[in-house]
Amino acid sequence: MSNQYSITDHNYDVVVVGAGGAGLRATFGMAEKGLKTACVTKVFPTRSHTVAAQGGVSAALGNMGPDDWRWHMYDTVKGSDWLGDQDAIEYMCREAIPAIIELEHYGLPFSRTEDGKIYQRPFGGMTTNFGEGKAQRTCAAADRTGHAMLHTLYQQALRHDAEFFVEYFAIDLLMDGEACRGVIALSMVDGTLHRFNANMTVLATGGYGRAYFSCTSAHTCTGDGGGMAARAGIPLQDMEFVQFHPTGIYGAGCLITEGVRGEGGYLTNSEGERFMERYAPNAKDLASRDVVSRSMTVEIREGRGVGEERDHIHLHLEHLGPEVINERLPGIAESAKIFAGVDVTREPIPVLPTVHYNMGGIPTNYHGEVVTLKDGDPDHVVPGLMAIGEAACVSVHGANRLGSNSLLDLVVFGRAAANRCAETLTPGAQPKPAPQEATDTALGRLERVRTANGDTSTADLRLRMQRIMQNNAAVFRTGETLDEGVRLIQDCYAAFEDIKMLDRGLIWNSDLIESLELDNLRVCAVATLESAANRAESRGAQAREDYPDRNDDEWMKHTLAWVGDDGKVHIDYRPVHSYTLTDEVEYIPPKARVY
Ligand code: FUM
Repeated sequence: MSNQYSITDHNYDVVVVGAGGAGLRATFGMAEKGLKTACVTKVFPTRSHTVAAQGGVSAALGNMGPDDWRWHMYDTVKGSDWLGDQDAIEYMCREAIPAIIELEHYGLPFSRTEDGKIYQRPFGGMTTNFGEGKAQRTCAAADRTGHAMLHTLYQQALRHDAEFFVEYFAIDLLMDGEACRGVIALSMVDGTLHRFNANMTVLATGGYGRAYFSCTSAHTCTGDGGGMAARAGIPLQDMEFVQFHPTGIYGAGCLITEGVRGEGGYLTNSEGERFMERYAPNAKDLASRDVVSRSMTVEIREGRGVGEERDHIHLHLEHLGPEVINERLPGIAESAKIFAGVDVTREPIPVLPTVHYNMGGIPTNYHGEVVTLKDGDPDHVVPGLMAIGEAACVSVHGANRLGSNSLLDLVVFGRAAANRCAETLTPGAQPKPAPQEATDTALGRLERVRTANGDTSTADLRLRMQRIMQNNAAVFRTGETLDEGVRLIQDCYAAFEDIKMLDRGLIWNSDLIESLELDNLRVCAVATLESAANRAESRGAQAREDYPDRNDDEWMKHTLAWVGDDGKVHIDYRPVHSYTLTDEVEYIPPKARVY
C-alpha cells in the first residue's frame, strides 16, 4: 500500500501532535531540555482553539485577597463531583502558581491591579476556606486570555529549536504491539505523506465539540487524538461527561465568558427574576456550570424562557457600566454586537447552554503518560505515548470542569509532559521504526476514504450525527433518550461506509480532510452515547432524570470505552484515585451537594 504513496521519513526524540496551549507548552518544554522535537499541526499554531478562551486561568496567587492552593484543590475535587483523580488535582493546583508566574515572565500581557499585580476575577465554584467565601482566583488578560496565552507560548516556541510542520493532518499512530513508535501525517499543502518516527508521541489535539450541532468549539475540534487512540486499541475515558457552558449566544453558539458573571453579570427569566438565587442560594450565578446549565434548562422547560419562543435566557451586564465593560470585557461586547445585535451597555444578551468542553478523553497519569487497563493493572502505561490538554483525561476535571481550570490544565500538563520526557528519554537515541504493517493499515484507511464512492455526502452525515448528539446526549438525559441515541448513532457510524468523495486529490482536498475528521468524530460520538447510557446515576455533567442521585457505592469509577472498527463499544472501569500525592493535604471525601 505504501508504495502507491511517496513517504518521507523523519526521526525525532519527540513528536507533538497539535499546537494549542498544551501542544505548544510541551513542544518548547521538550526542545528546551535538549530533545529534538517536531510539532505537527493541522492549523497554524496561533489559530488553534485555545485562542478562543476568554475568562482566564486559575491559580491561587492571592493577589486580590487570601488564597491557598489547597482551597483550589478542594473546589476542583468538589466541582468534579468526586470523579477527579486527587493526586492529579493536587499536582495541578500546586503547580498552578509557578506555571502562571512562568507565563508572566514569558511576557503574557495579563490585566493588572492598581499595584501592578496580575488581575484575578471570581469564577464559578472557586471559593476560599473550603467553600466558605468567594475566591478571586482567575488570572485574566481582559476577556482574551486564551489569545494572549497562545501568542505568548508560540513566541516562546520560536525561541527554541522545535520544528513545526504546519497544515499537516495526522492520520494515525504507528503502533508496534502496544507501543507507539510515531505518527503518519498528510501535508495538506502539497499532498505528500510524512512518517514521524519518535521515541515519544504526544497527542495534544483538543476536544470533539464539533460532534454536536451547537458548540463554542472551533470547526477544528474534531477529536482527532481520540479517533487515533481508539484505532490503536486504547480506551477513551469518561466520555459521558460533556460540559454545557451556560452562556453561549442564542442561535450562534459563540462563547460569552463566565467572566461576565464573575464581574457581576446575572441571568434572568421571562419574569425578570434572578432565578439562580432559588437554585443555588450561596453561589447564585457563579454556581458550577453543570448547576447553572441545568437551572436554565428547567426555567425554559417550565415556560419561563425569554423571547418569542420562550426558548432562551437573558444575561445582564448593563448595570456594570461602559467603563468596566470596556476595560474588562471588550471582546464579549464585540461578540454580542456581531452575533446577537445587542449593545451590552443597554440590553441583555440572549443566551443558551451550549456544548463547551469534553471532560472525557484519552486516559493519562499526571505525567501525561497514556494509561490503560491491562492484566488487572488500571494504571498500565502505554509505551511511547502521551496525551495532554482537552484530548486527555488526566482526570483533573472528573465529571465537571470548573471554569478557568482548562487553560491551567494545558500549561501545567504540557510542562509536566516535557519534564517527564526529560527524565525518561535520551536525547538523540535512534527511534525504533514501527513495523511496515502499521503504515499499511493507516494508508489503507486513507485510501478507502479518498476513493469512497457511496451515496452519502460527508456534510449530510456529519449533520445527522450532530443532531443526534444534540438531542440524545443533552443537558438532561433518560434511559429512553440515551438508548434511542445509541441506536441512532450506531446507524450513523455504519453509514460512514457509504460516503462519497467528489475530489480524489491529496492537495487541499477539504472533502477528504473533513471526512477523516468525521471518522474521528464518530468514534467520540459513539463512545459518548454508549458511556452515558451505561452510567446509571447523575454526577456532574451527566444529569439522568431516571437516576437523579449520585451513587458513590456503585459509580465512583471511571468509565473506559474501547471503540472497535465496527463501532461496537466494550466498557470496563478504572478506579478513581482517591489518594493525594503528598501528605500536605488529606483525601477529600464525598459530601452532599450544597451550592
Ligand atoms: O467562560 C469562560 O471564559 C470559559 C472559561 C473556561 O472554559 O475555562
